[in-house]
Amino acid sequence: MKGIILAGGAGTRLHPLTKVTSKQLLPVYNKPMIYYPLQTLLNAGIKDILIIIAPERSGDFLNLLGSGKEFGANFVYEVQEKPEGIAQALMIGKDFINGEKCALILGDNIYTDDFSEEIKAHNEGALIFVKNVPDPERFGVVEMDENGKVLSIEEKPENPKSNWAQTGLYVYDEAACDMAAMLNPSDRGEYEITDLHRLYLEKGLLKAQSVAGPWFDAGTFESLFEASSFIRSQSQS
Ligand code: DAU
Repeated sequence: MKGIILAGGAGTRLHPLTKVTSKQLLPVYNKPMIYYPLQTLLNAGIKDILIIIAPERSGDFLNLLGSGKEFGANFVYEVQEKPEGIAQALMIGKDFINGEKCALILGDNIYTDDFSEEIKAHNEGALIFVKNVPDPERFGVVEMDENGKVLSIEEKPENPKSNWAQTGLYVYDEAACDMAAMLNPSDRGEYEITDLHRLYLEKGLLKAQSVAGPWFDAGTFESLFEASSFIRSQSQS
């Protein structure tokens, strides 16, 4: 299983914090943000990891993370010239993935769950991790039946069909890069991860699993602060 951390983007929602650095390098209590999604992949035994970064910040990521040796892993870096969507990670990462299964995690998503069993057991289709949230319209929204079977998935809908948010960890079978290549940019000009997941859903191959512990998408001032104070409380207990 290969791993990808998507850590590009302009981070404009966090200006002026991100005027001279990347969001994913900002501190979350005592570590740079990217350490948390990195640890989620490492915990699942994923050692070959592609880190996708914005061109202006590539040197900083390399200085911080290096070859991966310090983490017992191998890191490869690719630049995303423009933030043209999360699903573009699978286009940029095609050669790296090399026809294997892969796990993609967003560089601003922080979990405490250990997903190693689900990731290791994943065989066919796409697996997403969902969390019940009070403000689903901010996220990809997943509608499920009483058995957890996915019925629909929509990106930031005005009228969400459920409170289940798609979080930022996705596990794919060998078909992911070929399926991503079939996507067209959305109205906002991005290759949407939700469109890729809808393709999997149409084939009956999209599974959702709920996140048991806390989850933070640390992309706003509030959530960044909440994530920091949560990690602080954990490290003092
Ligand atoms: O956090 C979970 C949510 O992430 C999902 O519920 C949504 O379905 C999914 O679209 C995404 O929504 P966001 O609004 O949080 O996406 P955002 O544009 O903030 O991008 C998420 C991270 O990925 C962010 O750290 C920047 C990085 N990124 C994003 C894009 C679009 C890139 O590195 N390159 C990109 O082209």
